[in-house]
Amino acid sequence: MASSHQAGALRRFFGWLFSPSGSLSVFVLLLVGVVVGAVGVIGTQVGIAMSGTTEFCGTTCHSHEKFVYPDHKLSVHYTNRTGVRPECTDCHVPHSYPAKLFYKAKAGLVDAFAELNGTISTQQKFDKERWRLANIVWDEMKADNSANCRSCHNPQAWNPEKQSEDARKAHKKFFSGKATCIECHTGVAHKDVEDPGETQKAAAPK
Ligand code: HEC
Ligand code: HEC
Ligand code: HEC
Repeated sequence: MASSHQAGALRRFFGWLFSPSGSLSVFVLLLVGVVVGAVGVIGTQVGIAMSGTTEFCGTTCHSHEKFVYPDHKLSVHYTNRTGVRPECTDCHVPHSYPAKLFYKAKAGLVDAFAELNGTISTQQKFDKERWRLANIVWDEMKADNSANCRSCHNPQAWNPEKQSEDARKAHKKFFSGKATCIECHTGVAHKDVEDPGETQKAAAPK
């Protein structure tokens, strides 16, 4: 019978796989392991670099190219006085390993699925989903005390005298641990997002 024949082949394959190698030296086996490992590590890094540019994130998906990137280009984090430009990933992906790998794997799957599904394929759909998406980002940033913002803006390096009176006062709240960057500074890289609940409330008859 075909199935018992296949089962036999499978048993033989595993038998072979787990039997000591008769013809290959330990050195050759180690070498194969090192080469396979190196290809895996280098391949992963190249993949991360290629899929981590603003050009890639801003243009690969229709939704990002049409609705996200053009907005972002108007923000202070795209062009500014000093010409330091964060990549999308500087703000959106953890910088440390292995968190970066897990985040990218998950975001890649979720984003690709949503893009294929057309979740935000029109301006109307995007506007409807924005509040939910923005809240995901805010929650992440609150959870890690805005680590990605602080990778560039180091509060220890602030010169309060060069900041406005408002900034100086508000930043005391950061130092006393009462609030983190993103709780005060939303909309620094995209246009402001509106809470659809508030809009509905405002439009509701009194
Ligand atoms: C790659 C570095 C980088 C990262 C990451 C970054 N910023 Fe900035 N940010 C800048 C630069 C550069 C400027 C413009 C400085 C100037 O005025 O020349 C800026 C400006 C700002 C300003 C002043 C805005 C204005 O209108 O003058 C605020 C507020 C700010 N960033 C908050 C944030 C927050 C919040 C985050 C995290 C969500 C963040 N930044 C992430 C580099 C960065
Ligand atoms: C309690 C609210 C609050 C927190 C927390 C906070 N900020 Fe601010 N920040 C302000 C206010 C208010 C201003 C002044 C008005 C403005 O520029 O938006 C300001 C100004 C700034 C500016 C412009 C400075 C200037 O004088 O031109 C930068 C850059 C900035 N904040 C970055 C950050 C970063 C990075 C963090 C986290 C490490 C942070 N802020 C935390 C409220 C806050
Ligand atoms: C300076 C940090 C920063 C940079 C750079 C940045 N973002 Fe964002 N992004 C945010 C924050 C913060 C939010 C949460 C909403 C808000 O406050 O604007 C957000 C929200 C979003 C959202 C949810 C929808 C929305 O509009 O709120 C998407 C999608 C997104 N970003 C994609 C991108 C892409 C793609 C790029 C690069 C082309 C990029 N972001 C660059 C900080 C950043």
